[in-house]
Amino acid sequence: MPSIDTELVNKILSLKRERKAVILAHNYQLGEVQDIADFVGDSLELSQNAAETQAEVIVFCGVHFMAETASILCPHKVVLLPDLAAGCPMADMITAERLREKKRELPDATVVCYVNSTAEVKAESDICCTSANAVRVVESLDSEQILFVPDQFLGHYVSTKIKKKYFLWPGFCPSHVRILPQHILQLEKDYPQAKVMVHPECRPGVIALADEVLSTGGMCHYAQREDISQMIVGTEIGIIYRLKKENPAKRFIAASEQAVCPDMKLITLEKILWSLETMAPEVKVPEEIRLKAKAAVDRMLEVG
Ligand code: 13P
Ligand code: SF4
Repeated sequence: MPSIDTELVNKILSLKRERKAVILAHNYQLGEVQDIADFVGDSLELSQNAAETQAEVIVFCGVHFMAETASILCPHKVVLLPDLAAGCPMADMITAERLREKKRELPDATVVCYVNSTAEVKAESDICCTSANAVRVVESLDSEQILFVPDQFLGHYVSTKIKKKYFLWPGFCPSHVRILPQHILQLEKDYPQAKVMVHPECRPGVIALADEVLSTGGMCHYAQREDISQMIVGTEIGIIYRLKKENPAKRFIAASEQAVCPDMKLITLEKILWSLETMAPEVKVPEEIRLKAKAAVDRMLEVG
C-alpha cells in the first residue's frame, strides 16, 4: 500500500479551510481521496450535499457531469474539478442535438435523463434521475411513454419495475459492461454464503442474478446489515475501499477486477492541492443552459 504524504494532506486541509471549501468525493475515488473528503457518497447524495453546503468553494472529486450538477445547483459557488479530463464515456454517448431529433420523433414521450449526462442534455430533458431514485422518478410520472437516456441498462432495469412504454437510448457504461453473468455464477460457487449486490448500470443478465440492485450509496448502506458478512460487489472496484473501511470484519469480493473507471482515478491528492492553490479548473454551466437543466434536476430532487 502506498504511504500517504501527510505534508500534502495537511496542506490540502489548511488551504481548504482558508478557501472556505468543502471536498466532495464519489464512492469510486481513490482511497486517499476518499480519506480527505468531507463527504463521500453516490451521485444523488453528492448533489443533495452540494445543494445544501454553506461552503463557498466545492472541490468535486468525481467526474465532469457531477461537477456540472453542483454548478447547476450552486451558481454562486466556485466548483472545482481537479482534472478536467475526468469525464464519463456514457455521458458522451448522447448529445443535445441527437436528443432533440429523437424528441421530434417521439413527441408524446417524457424524457427521463440519467444524471450521468451533460448539462446540455439535462436542459433538453423533463426530469433527471440517479441510480438511487430512477424507479421512484419514473413511478412519479403520469406519462405512459418514457424516453430514457443515455443508459440503456438502467432504463431496462426501470422498465422491469414500472410498466410503461420505454424507448431506451443505446448508451452504456464501459466499466460496468465488463461484469459478465459468468463472473457472478463462478463467484456464487466459490462463495456460497455471499450476497450478490450489483449496480443497475450492469447488463440485464447480471442484474437477473443479483440479490440486490443498488446505487453505490445503497451498497454502502446494505453492507452494514448485521446478518450479512460476505458480499459479491458488482460495480466499479473503487467502492471496495469504503466498504472495507466501514466494515473491517466483512468480506467483499469484486465481481470483476476489470470493472475500473479510469476517469474516476484521474483525481489525485496532488491535483486537489493544485486546484485549491490556483482555484482552477473551474466548472461553470452557462446560465441559459443552467436554468433549463436545473428544472430537470430540481424535479428529481423533489421526488427525493
Ligand atoms: P451512483 O450514483 O450509484 O454512485 O453511480 C454513479 C456512477 O457513475 C456509476 O457508474
Ligand atoms: Fe461513467 Fe461508468 Fe465511470 Fe460511472 S463508472 S463515471 S458511468 S464511465
